Amino acid sequence: MKNKVLVPIIALLTMGILVISCVSCSAENSADKSETTATTSDTSKTDAIDYMALVNKTHKLPDNWEKELETVKMTNSVKDEVEVEKKAYDAYLKLKADLEKEDIYVDLDSARRSVKEQQRIMDEFTEKYGKDYALKTVATPGYSEHHTGLALDLYLIVDGKDITENEDMIEYTDIWAKIHKKLADYGFILRYLDGSEHITGYGYEPWHIRYIDNVDVAKEITSKGITFEEYLGTASSAKVDIDYGKFDIYSKEDLEAAVIQIKCQFASWEGCELKRIRYAGDEAVTDENLKRLNEINPDGKYTQVAEFFMDFHTPKDVGELTFKADTDYKDYNWWLGRTEDDGWEIVDKGY
Ligand code: DAL
Ligand code: ZN
Repeated sequence: MKNKVLVPIIALLTMGILVISCVSCSAENSADKSETTATTSDTSKTDAIDYMALVNKTHKLPDNWEKELETVKMTNSVKDEVEVEKKAYDAYLKLKADLEKEDIYVDLDSARRSVKEQQRIMDEFTEKYGKDYALKTVATPGYSEHHTGLALDLYLIVDGKDITENEDMIEYTDIWAKIHKKLADYGFILRYLDGSEHITGYGYEPWHIRYIDNVDVAKEITSKGITFEEYLGTASSAKVDIDYGKFDIYSKEDLEAAVIQIKCQFASWEGCELKRIRYAGDEAVTDENLKRLNEINPDGKYTQVAEFFMDFHTPKDVGELTFKADTDYKDYNWWLGRTEDDGWEIVDKGY
């Protein structure tokens, strides 16, 4: 992505948005023109960072990370400068060389981002697409894995063309499958798995890979098909029951897109375990309910409404959440609004 902003594909396909200009460049050029410069020569720093550190919606960048971080800077085929943690970059170069043996060409779109850069991306997305959409697409500054320098966003070079747009990249499922197969050999894992939005808090991102340094652990995570959160034991891997019941007004894809919004927001409820999400049915799709959502958020200009119910369980320590500890909650209510050309937004929730 030219503007270094990540967009969940499901939402993209559903909403048909995002216009970022595409820049063409040959694969050969891209390989030749990538340049690397070490930003520090203090090799004693290597290995000082924790390569298994978890940074997600509820775990911020560890303190003093920057002090220990050693990075390199490279220039990609579209002339953007990308900064990457040193060992992660070495591993990436090996992965890239291995992929090229199979005629698969990749380059780095974005890796380490400062908190300031993440804020710029968040502001841009909030302004363009609204707060809910931005929150499920872009990490809150301070909580992006990109701050670590260990998260790398790849883009593809196919037949000499740079494929940098998310909605274009997602089409290349065969290529991504081949890339994903090799990640663990070089100490990388795929971070935002398809179908794990309720755990990671983000939509599927085939391009976002994470360096964890340990090849054996990377292989274990990959072969089990689990998220980093599940491996580290910070998320429940319990199966979530999604019940769409009977529906005529919306398509299954419409309802799935709404569920992803709910799951993404739920992911920031630290320690809560999601049990069930149920579509409330077409009876809730009324003018009266639509009017209510537009009164709550007049800027939304919603033309469609949907209601869902959720069952979840709270942790022993609820922290800042306003729920009772270690309690089953049933039929918690979610109201979503949508315009013709935009995605679902959570407008109201609660009992
Ligand atoms: N798109 C990923 C979640 C980030 O902004 O860090
Ligand atoms: Zn990323």
